[in-house]
Amino acid sequence: MAAYTWFLTGASRGIGLETTRQLLQSASNTVFATCRSPATALDLSALASSAGKLHIVQLDVADETSIKKGTAEVLKILDGGPLDYVINNAAINRGADLAFNFSPTDLSDTITSNVIGPALVSRYLLPAIEKSSRKVIVNMTSGLASIGKNLGPKSTSYSISKTAVNMLTYKQARERPDLIPFVIDPGWVKTKMGGAGAILEPHQSVTGILKVITSATPTNAGKFYGYMGNEIPW
Ligand SMILES: NC(=O)c1ccc[n+]([C@@H]2O[C@H](COP(=O)([O-])OP(=O)(O)OC[C@H]3O[C@@H](n4cnc5c(N)ncnc54)[C@H](OP(=O)(O)O)[C@@H]3O)[C@@H](O)[C@H]2O)c1
Repeated sequence: MAAYTWFLTGASRGIGLETTRQLLQSASNTVFATCRSPATALDLSALASSAGKLHIVQLDVADETSIKKGTAEVLKILDGGPLDYVINNAAINRGADLAFNFSPTDLSDTITSNVIGPALVSRYLLPAIEKSSRKVIVNMTSGLASIGKNLGPKSTSYSISKTAVNMLTYKQARERPDLIPFVIDPGWVKTKMGGAGAILEPHQSVTGILKVITSATPTNAGKFYGYMGNEIPW
């Protein structure tokens, strides 16, 4: 069985935790699950006894020093080996702000975590991604990123950040045709961000996401998908 190495951010809870859980069900997966507070990520550390190999690494996507340190730790453990799949999952959503009623601090913080963080993570991990035969980079986006879906005025800062991460991903794909960067909207999922009224259980969304990711080919690069693999309008 082929062995794969995975990296993700925001593995402490929600979609990131469920992704780590599903990946670790296979002994062929090694997962670098990063989070900003490993000491309190008890649900994550409980996965250490799974079939796959788990490395928990501290990484705060809002802090470039932490990103440098966390990614350097991953590269050190990989010891010149390949990183097959990178999932930039961590993000924040400060709430239902509007284009004429928003906090500049919230907008700036949201862009720092949701756009600059994923951009830096992929940049610092590039030496290991380049060594892989897969070279898949998944940036988690949202339906709210889509202008084509015309979802209205709500959640302005968050929507701006996710539209920006879509463009980042498009640019990554155009700059490096040898890589497979794309964005996925996980759907409306019951997590702290999605809320209890959401439609999907985390395992439903993540099962779909992992099918899309593991079957990705260069034709998927620079595109916008839903968790079932359906293409979403920009
Ligand atoms: N749930 C939905 O309905 C939905 C819909 C569309 C898109 N998404 C996207 O799906 C992804 C996962 O969302 P979710 O629903 O799982 O959200 P969540 O339950 O709120 O979890 C967010 C995760 O991101 C982490 N995080 C936040 N800021 C961080 C930072 N500065 N550094 C490192 N980690 C940080 C959190 O860690 P802590 O435990 O340390 O806070 C947590 O692990 C996000 O990109 C989100 O935008 C979700």
